[in-house]
Amino acid sequence: MNVFRNLERGAGRGVFRNEEAFSPEFLPEMVVGRENEIKEIAFNIRPVAERRRPASMVVHGPPGTGKTCATRHVLKELSEYTQRAEPIYINCWRRSSRAAVLSAVLEKFDMVMPRRGISADELLQRAVELIRKSGKTPIIVLDEADALVEEGEEGIFYDLLRMNETERLNLGVIAITNREDMLSLLDRRIRSSLMQADIGFARYGPAELKEILKERAKAGLVPGSWDEEALGVCAAFAGKNGGDARVGITLLWLAGRKAEAGGGRITVKEVEEAKNRVLSEIKGRKEELLDGEDRAIMEFIRKKESVKSGDVYSEFSGVTERTMRGRLGKLESMGLLESEYVQGGKGRTRVFRAKG
Ligand SMILES: Nc1ncnc2c1ncn2[C@@H]1O[C@H](COP(=O)(O)OP(=O)(O)OP(=O)(O)O)[C@@H](O)[C@H]1O
Ligand SMILES: [Mg+2]
Repeated sequence: MNVFRNLERGAGRGVFRNEEAFSPEFLPEMVVGRENEIKEIAFNIRPVAERRRPASMVVHGPPGTGKTCATRHVLKELSEYTQRAEPIYINCWRRSSRAAVLSAVLEKFDMVMPRRGISADELLQRAVELIRKSGKTPIIVLDEADALVEEGEEGIFYDLLRMNETERLNLGVIAITNREDMLSLLDRRIRSSLMQADIGFARYGPAELKEILKERAKAGLVPGSWDEEALGVCAAFAGKNGGDARVGITLLWLAGRKAEAGGGRITVKEVEEAKNRVLSEIKGRKEELLDGEDRAIMEFIRKKESVKSGDVYSEFSGVTERTMRGRLGKLESMGLLESEYVQGGKGRTRVFRAKG
């Protein structure tokens, strides 16, 4: 018997109705329990529909509390509501330089850009021209915005300020971050102009997590293929791990995979067996966002027990120390690395270790 046919006939067939519902890009139909936050974000952007300048804002809160999900939901509704806005979503882990962010803006206005060879100042100039010509108002979402600060690329905030103050483009900025303290380090002028409102997302409690998981199960799993109790265990585990919905959803997905290979039903047993893989799965997905250079740094550090910052600098000698410090800072804020200062022969040095 063909091995695939055999699998098809196996007891586990068809736990997933739409496995995409468990991917990080999936945007749920319903954002559970974030009505107030969504309303506030929308209220700040609303002026764009009347060609007035929207209020820019910071959206902050711990991992997995729905910041990205709620903001993308608002962008989607905004596109349906008015043609005057041009929502631009940028993940700054992926695009962590001034030039990379500006290129994302240009690409959205259909400009095909060579990544190298054009200075950031020139990119800015072109962006201003294109935006003006389009007659649309960009709503620029800088997700994981602290990566820009970590990498010493705060210049982008001055570019955005300039677009608004000098060029009078009236664009809106939504900076999303886990680390509000990072953005509070920025210049007062930037804060008062680009961070006028502040929207906090609190950690989810077990009841909210259970509700989110119920909705996700309905969207992604075959009806009747899971036990209620199993969802409860996923929610409790997510609750213990920082009230992080991503933990619960990933656990449910892993349990679904187990069920598909086995009994064809997600029970407490499958969930229990999948628990130990959740956190490394989440870390693996984050690493997929990294560019080649960041991956090489991770690989270099992972091969050893721990690495002194000086050894990283000399291994990657083509990169300036300042740039490398920024990259290491970003990888640490992503939760992929951890560091501590130790007393060495020549004073204190920073030592890095791969997490997990
Ligand atoms: N209220 C909600 N309703 C439905 N799904 C949700 C809700 N909140 C979060 N999720 C889901 O949980 C996962 C994590 O949410 P999200 O990515 O929005 O978190 P985040 O706050 O942006 O976290 P991070 O700071 O790590 O980026 C996503 O799969 C998202 O779809
Ligand atoms: Mg997010």
